[in-house]
Formats: sequence, C-alpha cells, structure tokens
Amino acid sequence: MKTLESYDCIPYESYAITETHPDALAVLGRLLGIETADPEHCRVLELGSASGGNLIPMAYHLPRGTFVGVELAAAQARRGQSLAAALGLTNLTLLHQDIRELDESLGPFDFILAHGVYSWVPESVKERILQICGRLLSSRGIAYVSYNTLPGWRQRGMLRDMLLLHCREATTPGARLERARDLLERLATGLNGDTRPETLALRREVEYLRSARASYLYHEYLEETNSPELFSDFMARAQRHGLAFLAETKLHTMFASTLGPGAEAALAGLDGQVMREQYLDFLRLRAFRQTLLVRAETRPCLEIDLERLEDFALYADLEPPSRPQSTRVKPEDYRTPDGASLRVEQPLTKLILAHLSACYPNAVPLTTALHAAAEQLTAAGRGRFAAAREDCLAELFNLYASQGIGLTMRTAHWSNQVESSPRATRLARAQAAAGEGHVASVRHRSLGLDPLAAWLLTGLDGTRDQAALRQALMAELSAEPALGAGLGLAPGASERALEALVDANLSRLLALFARAGLLSPDPV
Ligand SMILES: C[S@@+](CC[C@H](N)C(=O)[O-])C[C@H]1O[C@@H](n2cnc3c(N)ncnc32)[C@H](O)[C@@H]1O
Repeated sequence: MKTLESYDCIPYESYAITETHPDALAVLGRLLGIETADPEHCRVLELGSASGGNLIPMAYHLPRGTFVGVELAAAQARRGQSLAAALGLTNLTLLHQDIRELDESLGPFDFILAHGVYSWVPESVKERILQICGRLLSSRGIAYVSYNTLPGWRQRGMLRDMLLLHCREATTPGARLERARDLLERLATGLNGDTRPETLALRREVEYLRSARASYLYHEYLEETNSPELFSDFMARAQRHGLAFLAETKLHTMFASTLGPGAEAALAGLDGQVMREQYLDFLRLRAFRQTLLVRAETRPCLEIDLERLEDFALYADLEPPSRPQSTRVKPEDYRTPDGASLRVEQPLTKLILAHLSACYPNAVPLTTALHAAAEQLTAAGRGRFAAAREDCLAELFNLYASQGIGLTMRTAHWSNQVESSPRATRLARAQAAAGEGHVASVRHRSLGLDPLAAWLLTGLDGTRDQAALRQALMAELSAEPALGAGLGLAPGASERALEALVDANLSRLLALFARAGLLSPDPV
C-alpha cells in the first residue's frame, strides 16, 4: 500500500486553520471585488488534508457545501475517514491518494487549500499543486497555498542543517527525534549566557524547539524535503499555471506602512505588486506565507472601498483594557485571544467592540453595530463622536487586516450560554474523544484541550446537570491523580482542596466551551 511512512509514524497534528475557512476566503475575495462563491454552498478541495482536522469541521458546519480531501499517508487518511464516518458526513470525501494522481474530473472547486504542504514535498508534487489550482479552480475561485519562504527561512535552515547532521546515522523517525532533542539540549547548554547579537535568532529557535510538538520538530526540521522559495519564484511558477496573486491572508503585511516610515521609501520605484511583495519580504525577513491565488483572467480591485465593509457582519473576541475610556478619543490597547495587542482610538469602534464581545461567537451586521454605538454615544452626550463614521470604518478595517476582528457573510447563530444540562455538539465530543488535544470552535479556531478539558467535553451529552457533572469530575480526579496533578493538586490533598479545584475548573471550562460555540445545537 502506498503511504508516507514518516507521517504514519509521527502523524501531523491536524487542526482548524482559521484563514482557510470558505467564509474567510469568500469575504476577502469580495472585499477585493471578486464575486466569490457563497460559503454555505461552496465546493472545497484540500491537498494534503492529513487526518481531516481542517476539513471535517468545515464540512460539519457547512452541510450544504461539498468537501474533498487528498492525503497520501495511509494512517492519517484512515483516521480522518473514520471520524467523518462516525459523524455521518455525507458531504465530505477523504481520499487516500497521491496529489499527483488526483482525478481532475472531481473539479471545479471554489476554494482549493494546501496548508503546510507546498514547500515540504518534492518538485513534482509542488508543480502538481499549482497545476491543480490552475486547472480546477472555478472562474471566481480562490486558492490558498502556504509555504516557507526565503530569505527568512534561511535563518531556520541553519538549525535544520545542524540537526540533520546530528541525525545522519539514526534510521527510524523515533531515533532521529531523539538525536534532534539531544542536539537542542547541547545547543541550549552551549549558548546559555551568550549575548552576542549574531546568535540571537539561533538561541530563540532552540528555545522554541525544545518545547515544540514532536510532529512540528520532525516534519519541519528533520523531513527529507523542506525547500523554501522566494515569493517571486513561487509567483513565477504560479503564473506558468495560469494563476495570479490576489493577496496574503495576513492582509496587514501587504502595507509597507506597518514596517515604519522607511519601508515605504525603500519600495519607491519598484514595478508591480509581486516585486513590492518580494522586497517587503526582504525587509521583514519573512519565513512563511499564506498566499491567495486566483485565475489569471480574474480582475480583482486592489483599492479597498471601506463602504464595502457594510456588506458584512462583524465578530470579535477582543479583551478591552481594564478601564476602557469608551466615550473618549483616546488610544487604548485591546488584546486578542492570542495575546497580541491592538490599538483602538475611536469611541464608535470601542462601543462596537464591546457589543461584539458580548455576542461572541455571533456576528452583528456592521450597519446595526454602527447604529447602536452611535445611539449610545448620543445618549451619553457625546453625539459629536457618533459622526466619526469614516474614522471608525478605517479603524475597523485595520483591525480586520490585523486579524483582530472577523467579517462574515454567514448568518449562522450559535448559543453562547451554559444550559443547566450542557450538551456539546457531536463534532466537539467526537474531536475531544479522538484524543488529538484540540477541537475546532464554530469560528474555525483551534482550541487546545488539556486532558481534563478533553475528558469533560467528551462527556457533555446533555444527560447530566452541573451537580452531576461536578460529582463525576470529583470521581474522575480521585481515580486519576495525574489529572489533578496537571492542575496543580498536591498528592493526598484534602477533600476541600479537591472540591475547590473542581468548582473552579468546571465553571471555567464550561464558559470556555460556550464562548467557542461548542455548546450549541448541532447544525441541521
Ligand atoms: C505538514 S503536513 C500538513 C497537513 C495539513 N494540511 C495541516 O496543515 O494540518 C503535510 C501533509 O501533506 C501530506 N502529503 C505529502 N505529500 C503528499 C502527496 N504527494 N499526496 C498527498 N498528500 C501528501 C502529508 O502526508 C501530510 O499529511
């Protein structure tokens, strides 16, 4: 049987990649003037779909869409197929197949996704990925291809070279991982206390890799193929397959201004968008891209008209500063769930963010949110700020470009409440039970699960109220001391300490699941 042994041996952790969701791609395309497919009814192809961690949640939440995944590693493909079958997903096909052998009669597709595949495969597969995009993308389709890029990856490539040398005599993936960990420890010891600027990048990378997942360390640093490219070389190849650049999913990186005033001057006189992007990569030392491609004949409109934002609804999960000055024009820092900080100044924007936070994960049409915020300002005697609509739209666009807020075309609504007998979606329970350590939120974000969270989520079938859940959790923690230890419970701790731990964690976890939309009814 054909397979990829290294991935069978050390499976890739397959989870939801927010930027690849059809809704996210459709919105970005429409902002850029393309009549993209309706995400509710679209056709999606994923190349290198691993065990379906990205495609399965999409297919589950978009039951009228059609989804096809292609994966060569047999064990990964099988895992995905059995989860899809257990969930009864009739709109998803996960093929155990080489990308090179894909049957083209399966197309066309509105969205083609290849995350973490292109620069990790041999030349013939790279070429085929872009050929498939060129041939199977529908006329208004968008392809998403992520890959390691130069010049930034050269810095990491230095460590990859050292690790490959240290592993050269180890033959099995497990032994290679062991050798790699050995070198990382030697490097950490040897560089301890080193303050030379020329070793800074290496020291950071070693530190990161020492606690990284085995699958990341192996497939990024120890796989036979990892061939990063210059963006301009990637685009030249894409153009040969009839494709053109649309945008980067991290939209803010396309604006030189985000690098400071000098960057704009440095790009002066460069011809064409591809070259501008290439030189931005030089300035950024960019190591990774998530590029969106369209058919060459598509004519996107790269001048974004802020009025187009009104076509969408907004959602956001931003944490405000401790005492937000919501009715004053004052720069304040809001925090994303990933811990990044984003500056917000306009009262209209601040009130909209408060409204969105209360509704999350649900979205609010921009026109409704603007109207409600303006009324609040007027009622507070700050009517003059209510008129600053243009400033607010510009700020909302910047937040969107920095991935601080989301825009959606969908009207789906989810519960964000914890009911008396909480019931998680079948998808959330199945993903938690599969033991992969993460589930997809309804906004297609990956939510990490520690063993206790996975245990609780697996059992949320709506048959037990919170008192019964509390009891079951107490029993589980008594039976499995390792679970409690993971939460800081000392061995032999008193019954009261155990109860306090259970109470704090039960309500924390249920609130977390509710905010991720996991306690909603299943989609019909
Ligand atoms: C780094 S993983 C990324 C997986 C997934 N897209 C993700 O991001 O979670 C690369 C995947 O591509 C698959 N792959 C590599 N070469 C392939 C080929 N020729 N045909 C199909 N799948 C392939 C691997 O087995 C692996 O699952």
